[in-house]
Amino acid sequence: MACGASATRCHRVGIVKTAGLSLDQAPPIDIPFKFFLTASLFSVIIGLLLIVKGEEVFLSRWTPLALGITHLITIGFLAQVMTGAMIQLLPVLAGSPIPAVITISRIIHLSLLSGAILLVTGFIFSHRFSLFAGAGLLAAAFTLFLIAALISLVSSGIRHNNAVSLGLGWLAIVPAVAIGIYLAMGLTGIASVSDMSRLTAIHLSWGVLGWVGIVLFATVFQLIPIFYVTKEIPTHIRHIAFAVIFSLLILYSLSHVIASRLFENSLVLIVMLFLLLGITVLYAIHRRKRKILDITLLFVLTGLVFLVLAAIVWVVGDYDLIVGVLLLGGVCLTIPIGIIYKVIPFLCWFHLQSLQVKQEKFSYSLPSMKHFISDKDAKRHYYLHVGAIFMVIISIVFPGPIVRLSGIVFSLSSIYFLKNVLFAFLAFRREQKALYV
Ligand code: HEM
Repeated sequence: MACGASATRCHRVGIVKTAGLSLDQAPPIDIPFKFFLTASLFSVIIGLLLIVKGEEVFLSRWTPLALGITHLITIGFLAQVMTGAMIQLLPVLAGSPIPAVITISRIIHLSLLSGAILLVTGFIFSHRFSLFAGAGLLAAAFTLFLIAALISLVSSGIRHNNAVSLGLGWLAIVPAVAIGIYLAMGLTGIASVSDMSRLTAIHLSWGVLGWVGIVLFATVFQLIPIFYVTKEIPTHIRHIAFAVIFSLLILYSLSHVIASRLFENSLVLIVMLFLLLGITVLYAIHRRKRKILDITLLFVLTGLVFLVLAAIVWVVGDYDLIVGVLLLGGVCLTIPIGIIYKVIPFLCWFHLQSLQVKQEKFSYSLPSMKHFISDKDAKRHYYLHVGAIFMVIISIVFPGPIVRLSGIVFSLSSIYFLKNVLFAFLAFRREQKALYV
């Protein structure tokens, strides 16, 4: 891509420092768009479920609907976003693309899509076949992705300093899915699982803290110096922090077989470490050179504040549902949305610039990055999204009709997200067409 052609020109694009990134072999932009659009559709479904079945969802965290919505967020939304982004990022990290990227990403996308639909249907309707078919498809999708990523990393000599952190994060999906399948066997009576609630806590720790937590923080650490011109967090500190979190997750998992206070308490240490990482990011952002509060940065900041709130509520006591909403809705949705709003315009611009060089159409003036997703549109989505999260929390504390209202706001927010991503894609297509004629 463009950077390979003129490294000095691409070194700084407007306020974006692209040092350390090589977009030479980036796969077609349709791939991340397809994953992001699918993710937004899953979040529309969450809003609709809240409208239709709102009262049932929050009776307890174990209701079929609550489990369904949990997996709509983790597998429906996050798996799409994280895999789509990684497929785009891998050539940057490893300097070598995923083999047969179009076919492989199509298979992964379809397996994640159908797997999530089946798994969630299995949860909501307590349908055994659907649950296992979904789990099988999801396991296949993740396995294929991990093998493809490994091939890409091994076949290239270049190693980006973030590859270790991201690798650890992605490794965490293996125990998360394996334990998830074992739990499903316990739930449907196929296996007798001792201490289901402890094992569920281990499953969700690998999924939410290991996979989502490490990958999300590794990405934030990578992107904030580039997009917001903050100081870089030293690589060795990041590596050590993520390696410690991973090791603590192993210790916490051992608490299922060995009764030990030390092993059990490792979960508290993991939460503390994430808090520390969150505060480090907040501090780096506070000390950034350009003090402009970009709307995408507001999404990231708000996600970090939700993380602090989730930790406080978790320490205070028995408010599992609120912790779940703060963590899954507040952190795991908000930060990725902010990153997507920053990355999509950047990718559109870079792909178009590369095409411009290829077509030798130097007189054509490319639109600015804001053309793809405007601040106004991102801001409207921000208010709807944060409003929806707060309304969901209020509806847990004061159950009643407000839950349906929160569903309406959540649906509007999700539809707005879908619209923003779709319009960015259409704007990209228009510009691409203009460069081809
Ligand atoms: C094939 C993939 C997966 C399967 C088959 C699966 C299965 C399950 C099952 C059966 C439970 C319920 C356990 C019970 O009722 O005691 C559960 C709970 C949970 N899972 Fe998964 N899961 C999968 C992937 C994931 C991933 C990747 C994440 C996170 C990123 C995740 C997050 C959660 C959470 C947060 C809960 C607990 C909900 C609560 O305690 O309120 N799951 N999962």
